[in-house]
Order: sequence, then C-alpha cells, then structure tokens
Amino acid sequence: VEITFVDHAGTARSVNAEEGSTIMETALKNDIPGIDGECGGACSCATCHVYIPEEWQSAVGEPSPMEEDMLDFASDVRPNSRLSCQIKVRPELDGLVVNTPVRQG
Ligand code: FES
Repeated sequence: VEITFVDHAGTARSVNAEEGSTIMETALKNDIPGIDGECGGACSCATCHVYIPEEWQSAVGEPSPMEEDMLDFASDVRPNSRLSCQIKVRPELDGLVVNTPVRQG
C-alpha cells in the first residue's frame, strides 16, 4: 500500500505501508519528518497530526469522538485534520497522500 507524505514545504516522500499498521507507524518506520507519535498510537498526544486532502477524505473516513477531542491539542487544526495513529492502512488507501503540518504540538 503506497502512502505519500507531503511536508509543509511541498517535499513528497512515498513509502510502502503494511496493511494493518497505522499511518503514524508507517511514518515513524520510514523516518518521515514532521510526525512524532509520542504516545505510541494511544490517541493521547496529538503529535501525529496530519491533513487529509479532500479527494481522500471519503476513503479515509471520519475521526472518532475520542480523536476529535484529542485533535483540540494539536496546533493549526483545520477541518481536514486527523491523527495519523487512528488511520489504519487498508488496500483502499493505496496511493493515499497526507500532508504533514509545520510542527507538532
Ligand atoms: Fe499520539 Fe497519535 S501517536 S495521538
């Protein structure tokens, strides 16, 4: 499953993600800058904040209420903000593009 991370400066990095892992884990494993994931994916740090481009929003789905609450702690939150540890890699997400914020926390 190919996932492309685009940083705030527009640099794109495409990596191969394992099905069943999360977008946050994929980023960490591949040394993608701009994603920290300090809590290890427990939805309690908001340092795995990403933006989902409009064309991918329906495939990715909606955040859970717990994720919505945690997103309040991220900086520069936008309507398309998500916590990447709450997005599981699925075959339907092949080709997914996510944008990483200028900074976490
Ligand atoms: Fe901590 Fe996602 S890794 S909220």
